[in-house]
Amino acid sequence: MNHFLDIHKTDPAALRGIIDNAAVMKSARQGRSRGAPDDDQPLAGQMVALIFEKPSTRTRVSFDVGVRQMGGQTMLLSGSEMQLGHGETIADTARVLSRYVDLIMIRTFDESVLIEMAEYADVPVINGLTDRTHPCQIMADILTYEEHRGPIKGKKVVWSGDGNNVCASFLHAAGQFGFDMTFTGPAQLDPEEEFIGLARKSGVRINIERDPHKAVEGADLVVTDTWVSMHDSQSAKERRHNMLRAYQVNEALMASAKPDALFMHCLPAHREEEATSAVMDGANSVVFDEAENRLHAQKAVMRWCLGL
Ligand code: CP
Ligand code: NVA
Repeated sequence: MNHFLDIHKTDPAALRGIIDNAAVMKSARQGRSRGAPDDDQPLAGQMVALIFEKPSTRTRVSFDVGVRQMGGQTMLLSGSEMQLGHGETIADTARVLSRYVDLIMIRTFDESVLIEMAEYADVPVINGLTDRTHPCQIMADILTYEEHRGPIKGKKVVWSGDGNNVCASFLHAAGQFGFDMTFTGPAQLDPEEEFIGLARKSGVRINIERDPHKAVEGADLVVTDTWVSMHDSQSAKERRHNMLRAYQVNEALMASAKPDALFMHCLPAHREEEATSAVMDGANSVVFDEAENRLHAQKAVMRWCLGL
């Protein structure tokens, strides 16, 4: 069963195939309106359940549009309106949904929900973000980087800020796609050791550098994300902001990176907090390409899951 649970759990050849397929499918759609169907309709007759236990704009819309472009149908389900949110087990939910739908995408809090869903479902399950990782985002980001700058292999990516779920999937990708990564942020918000160790094991360089200006020296790509994620307690907001202020991505920080370094943010952004508008809207920013590429990358992920 081809579940897409995490980047480090997916074979590097499969990951490369997904990125290449996404690029081919994207270029085949050039000049078409968003609602126009693709020439081939691999998802014709297929039903996809999209389950959200957290808010979403990009994941929700890009999965929905992607399935429709490929000829399939979607069912948007909010966790709180399902029996899942009222005591039914994840295992039973997975078994039941498998009798109705061909593919399940879930955005949830605890990773164990995703893992249990995949264990008991008879259909592929896709991780649409958990507290720990966000693999679909990083597939879109790899596609975006390579569209602008060619192969990401051997490049230097710098993550500035909170070592969160999106950072974790970037570390997984470093190991699988073969790029180096430097994390710069306060020690309290370092990425989990497990993620760092796994990437290092695959032979890439993973560094931690507390000085953000030193960290971005020689960077090909600078990435950040919100300082307070959906799973973080709002009461920690002020403390997190105080810890992270020095890691804001602004023009001065970007000036320390390579002149052609790209800037990425998975969005939603809190402008003038983790990144300034000057950077977000600057010439090296590809944040809206990343958002668009969620659509193309996830279409390729779904095809891989379904073997289509
Ligand atoms: N980047 C991302 O996953 O955005 P949403 O929360 O809007 O889905
Ligand atoms: N780190 C953010 C990503 C949102 C797409 C969060 O989990 O809220």
